[in-house]
Order: sequence, then C-alpha cells, then structure tokens
Amino acid sequence: MKELYSVIGYPIGHSLSPHMQNAVLDYHSIDGYYHAFEIAPEKVEEGIKGLKALNIKGFNVTIPYKVKVMDFLDEIDELAREIGAVNTVVNENGRYVGYNTDGDGYLQSLLTFLGRSSLQDQSVLILGAGGAARALLFTIAAKGQANCIDIANRTLSKAQELITSCPIDNEGTVLSITEAEENLGRYDIIINTTAVGMSPNVEESPLSLQHVKKGATVSDIIYNPLETKLLREAKERGALAHTGIGMFVMQGALAFEKWTGVQPNVKVMEDVVLRHLQ
Ligand code: ATR
Repeated sequence: MKELYSVIGYPIGHSLSPHMQNAVLDYHSIDGYYHAFEIAPEKVEEGIKGLKALNIKGFNVTIPYKVKVMDFLDEIDELAREIGAVNTVVNENGRYVGYNTDGDGYLQSLLTFLGRSSLQDQSVLILGAGGAARALLFTIAAKGQANCIDIANRTLSKAQELITSCPIDNEGTVLSITEAEENLGRYDIIINTTAVGMSPNVEESPLSLQHVKKGATVSDIIYNPLETKLLREAKERGALAHTGIGMFVMQGALAFEKWTGVQPNVKVMEDVVLRHLQ
C-alpha cells in the first residue's frame, strides 16, 4: 500500500511541495503519495487527528499552522522548540515528532551557493524579525559559525526581542532599516526574510543596496519571483544573488530524508520547482 505524505496549510492551493515531493518519490521508486490538504482554522485539531488516524508517514506544515501544530504532537525536536515553529512532522513508530527544517534548509542552500563549509569570518545582516528570521537566526547562530549576525527591522523592538531570545549569543546588534542601508558595506551576507518584493508586489524592495560591498552576497528567501527587485539590484552593484528556491528545495529535501531515510536527488526537486515557477 502506498505510504501517505502531505502538507497542511490554509490556503494551500498554490503549494509547489506536492509537485516536488511526488517527483522525487517517483525518482527514488518509493511507493508513496504526497497530497496537499487545506484545513480550515477551526478544523486544525480534527485535521491533524485525521492524518494520524490514517497513519500518515509524515507531513509538512505551512502558513498559518507552524506554531499551532505543536499543540498536537507527541514530541518536538530541540531546535524546533527553540525556534517555536514546526514545518516537518515525522511518524516515528506511531509517535508524531515535530522538526524545523527551514533554518537548516536555508543554511545548507547558502553554504552550497557560497562553496563554503561554514560562515566563519563572515558578517551577516538579517532583514526582518518575524518567524522566518527567527528560524534563520537561531540556525545560523547554532551552526553557521558566523562572525556576527545583526538584525535590521522596521520595528526595532521586535528585532531586539529576537536577538535577546536567541539561545546562542552571537553578539549581534539591532539596526533600523536606514542604519542598515548606511552601514551595508560592513556585511558579507545580507539576507531578506521579509515578504517585501514577493509576487504580486514585485516592484518593492526591503532596502536600498547603494552601499553594498562588491562581492558580498545578497540572499532572498522569496522564490516567487525567482529574481526579486532586491536581487536584481544586487547584481547591478556587483554583489552575488542567492535566490529563495534553494531554501524551499532543501527544507523539503531534509523533510524527505527524515521520512524515508533516503537522501533525495536535490536537482530533480529543483527542476520541478523551476518548471512550475516559469
Ligand atoms: P514570517 O513569519 O513569514 O517571517 P512575519 O512574522 O509576519 O512573517 O514577519 C514579517 C517581517 O517582515 C517582520 O519583520 C516585518 O516587520 P515589522 O516587525 O516591522 O512588522 C517585516 N515586514 C513586513 N512588511 C514589511 C514592509 N512593508 N516593510 C518593512 N518590513 C516589513
């Protein structure tokens, strides 16, 4: 019998995860099927109980349930608990365990892009202080070995709260967007975690790159459009542009590996996503 996998969210219609995961299940000849379930907010508990009743092997969790889902799991991995959000659930002998592969997926994608094994000696600036920034900050602080990780955000108090709540002290400071723009030359890696520039608002950019250092890397977690206005400007100014597709693919690849024990072919996954984005 086919093993069942899924993603839950609301709305879920535009998720590319089913295309990506079914393609790679097929590629590795795993007899499974990955389905997107849209669960209305008042039905979340029932919905998750339903998935468990079906003995689902694993599922992804997307907006707006990454925090809520934690109430219905048997165990939560330490990093996911620190981040305060779960995007991957694994059926481990009938116990449902929550993980967060967003931060690890991002970090692996960035390191592959840079051709490095760590962020040693690199000064990092994160734009934004929401859930995505939290996953990236905590993961990079725990595993990236960066020189420093600063946070720039429209609301300074939120950036301060985020830095203070990070379990690992990375000696980062908090900046306003204007301060970040003026001091941009300090950073080797600039990461946008806000939704500014995401389709359909493709003419928006979270900050000016006027003072970006040549050869620095500008990274956007947005993958629709693939090349945001921010990344276009990065290239124009002689910086490298890292798109959000890698994070999306790698968070899925890490989930796939946890569910099946198989290290998936990431190229197969990325090709499917690229095809659906064009
Ligand atoms: P997510 O969980 O996807 O990270 P979120 O928790 O809503 O989303 O966080 C969104 C982040 O993008 C916040 O840091 C937000 O800034 P504020 O803390 O000031 O609200 C930032 N953001 C969203 N829209 C923005 C905009 N138009 N300009 C600047 N920052 C914006």
